[in-house]
Amino acid sequence: MTHYYFALTNVEAESLLKEEVSLRYPDLRISYSRPGFLTFKGENLISFKPLFARVAGLSIGKFKEKELLYSKAWVWRRNDKLDIPPHLQEVSDNSVFKIGEKVTLIMMVGNDEFWAGTYDLESSHFQTPGEESSIIQREVPSRAYYKIAEAFEAFDLPFDHQERVLELGSAPGGASLFLLEQDMQVLGVDPADMDKSVLKNINFKHIRRPFETLTENDFREDVDWIISDINLPPTVVLKEVYRLLSFLNPRGLVLTLKMNELKHLEVVATVREKIRAMGFKKVELKYLPGHKKEIALIALRS
Ligand SMILES: C[S@@+](CC[C@H](N)C(=O)[O-])C[C@H]1O[C@@H](n2cnc3c(N)ncnc32)[C@H](O)[C@@H]1O
Repeated sequence: MTHYYFALTNVEAESLLKEEVSLRYPDLRISYSRPGFLTFKGENLISFKPLFARVAGLSIGKFKEKELLYSKAWVWRRNDKLDIPPHLQEVSDNSVFKIGEKVTLIMMVGNDEFWAGTYDLESSHFQTPGEESSIIQREVPSRAYYKIAEAFEAFDLPFDHQERVLELGSAPGGASLFLLEQDMQVLGVDPADMDKSVLKNINFKHIRRPFETLTENDFREDVDWIISDINLPPTVVLKEVYRLLSFLNPRGLVLTLKMNELKHLEVVATVREKIRAMGFKKVELKYLPGHKKEIALIALRS
């Protein structure tokens, strides 16, 4: 019997998603796609959870608006040129799903082209249709503000007042700004210029050097978190993070791994085990709504 699966992702990550599916789910074949929306088919019933999907699950099929008789469902649209019919929007607004429950998702893929699917709601899923973050867009130094805010929201990261964050690749300062707003102390490492709004904050210190030059002598105290958004290959970033972990003992890591080449998929296949072996109990990879060709690695000691 043929089974169908759907995946929603950001357009920039489609090639990564397709490659990941061909490596991790070799029985599946692409069945249909529109930018940001893909379906696959295969002969076996499997748990379909590709890393480079914002949401993925079982596809129920394609429908016209009048065929959609759901009283509880979330509704997602492929782009903001599509207007969700008011009665479906009302169903979506009034539908509450709890962690562990099966979500019914209606995906508006084109004008009068709807697809329905189901997926199990996990704790790291956003509570809004099709994985939208609730962070309000505003003027910030860079989109890294939203990436760290989304990781914070999705994983309920236990950031605490005055905790010390080592931020690798901190310029121009979007992520630093978010961390400073959480009343944290940020040690930003980047040879490039930081935004003035960040530099003037007394809780921010700038080490204006490449992160490869950091040594134990740069730290009078240990750090609570290591955060990285460095635009270098994940192999390079991870090698340096492992080196830093030989003399720093943070309770958490939030690393944005840049996946500019398909070969970097090999890194994500093994990284979780490596980080677990370094004493981090919870290690997860998540593709966030604000991501392009990248993925977040979240690691917590407890
Ligand atoms: C995507 S940007 C970071 C955005 C930043 N996190 C923010 O919140 O605005 C990548 C940064 O990595 C920095 N970078 C690249 N190589 C680096 C290195 N070897 N050491 C430190 N920073 C580096 C770049 O200068 C650049 O500012």
